[in-house]
Amino acid sequence: MKDIAIIGYGQTKFGELWESSFRELLVDSGVKAIENAKVDGDDIDAMYVGTMSGGLFVGQEHTASLIADYAGLNPIPCTRVEAACASGSLALRSACMSIAAGQHDVVLVGGVEKMTDVADPTGAIATASDQEWEAFVGATFPSLYAMMAKRYMYEYGLTLEQLSTWSSIAHENAVNNKYAQFRSKVSVEQVMRASPVADPLTLLHCSPVSDGAASMIVCDADKATDYADKDDIIYIKAFTQASDTIALHDRPNMTTLEAAKVASNYAYKMAGVGADKIDVAEVHDCFAINGLVLTEDLGFCKKGTAGKFIEEGNTRIDNDKFVTINPSGGLKAAGHALGATGIRQVGELYWQLKQDKECKDRQSAINNGYGIAANVGGTGGTVCTHLLSVDR
Ligand SMILES: CC(C)(COP(=O)(O)OP(=O)(O)OC[C@H]1O[C@@H](n2cnc3c(N)ncnc32)[C@H](O)[C@@H]1OP(=O)(O)O)[C@@H](O)C(=O)NCCC(=O)NCCS
Repeated sequence: MKDIAIIGYGQTKFGELWESSFRELLVDSGVKAIENAKVDGDDIDAMYVGTMSGGLFVGQEHTASLIADYAGLNPIPCTRVEAACASGSLALRSACMSIAAGQHDVVLVGGVEKMTDVADPTGAIATASDQEWEAFVGATFPSLYAMMAKRYMYEYGLTLEQLSTWSSIAHENAVNNKYAQFRSKVSVEQVMRASPVADPLTLLHCSPVSDGAASMIVCDADKATDYADKDDIIYIKAFTQASDTIALHDRPNMTTLEAAKVASNYAYKMAGVGADKIDVAEVHDCFAINGLVLTEDLGFCKKGTAGKFIEEGNTRIDNDKFVTINPSGGLKAAGHALGATGIRQVGELYWQLKQDKECKDRQSAINNGYGIAANVGGTGGTVCTHLLSVDR
């Protein structure tokens, strides 16, 4: 299997981007990634695009052809990949597999979603749940994650203050991320008192509805220095995926994401490192409770203790003892343009690990040189993880 390197990354701002169309967003981030990687369009062998539902959000399917055409990359093979909110990381995983197998040398991976054009984004997002057993009876994603939060509070005594601390830290981190949707601080008290969405979740426990795109150039590690400077190369040591039931109620336990455990354990094994060696992580906090659950499922603290772990400040950017989690502001504050999120998470790790100027004022301590991203589809029916390293 060939080693894989990231040699360039680019993204748009996330937010309500009225002035940009679906295709423009992806091409904008793609051009940034190409320029950042110092490759030419002719160097690119293939493209993978992650998007959850161009059809529902902007009435556009056949995304692969659209993007290859609009990006001026015809006739290279372009493949659209879909796994709800994990579409972006699944596109990246597909690109990694194609390089590892020796099929392609240089691949452009993009993720995009344009969510703010539809009148009912909640209904569109709900198509990622089980239609017959969840959406049909009125369950929405905020309500499904609210059930997880309620159960978690019941089982482990998590307080509303602890849950709200997650969002407060996320907003604080996003202040220094110029691409973030929300760059304003919110106190724990403000999170608790925000408008109720689905008890116990308030508006400020939820990720927003976002437009945005992120793109990355990945290549055969043997060819990386043909394009990028040594300091701009970061290696993908593991690219893993696991599946679980699509419906929340079919799981024996709704306070853990089994697929996140399986995918991350496999990633640690593939990379030959443990969770204790990870300097920085980006986890899928579509709702604050998922941030806590993933902090546990990725092995950063014991089951049932994430509330206290977060409250003690152990995951803050300025801690130098434990992992820094979501220095970007996460989905909560940086935004969640569904198909783009998985690539944006890995892009943040790319910047963090090479201590890029893009991370100025939100740089986490890089001691061991490892980062991990966990991107979740639905309530955990799909989870992809990517484990990155500064060393090959
Ligand atoms: C939480 C949610 C329901 C709020 O939607 P809404 O009530 O329609 O909110 P609006 O769009 O009317 O925005 C109202 C205000 O709150 C802000 N806002 C909206 N969502 C926000 C969020 N998640 N966090 C912080 N602020 C938010 C808006 O910017 C706006 O501010 P303004 O008045 O200063 O302009 C919506 O963001 C949502 O559905 N989030 C979850 C998305 C989701 O399920 N993603 C998939 C996860 S699996």
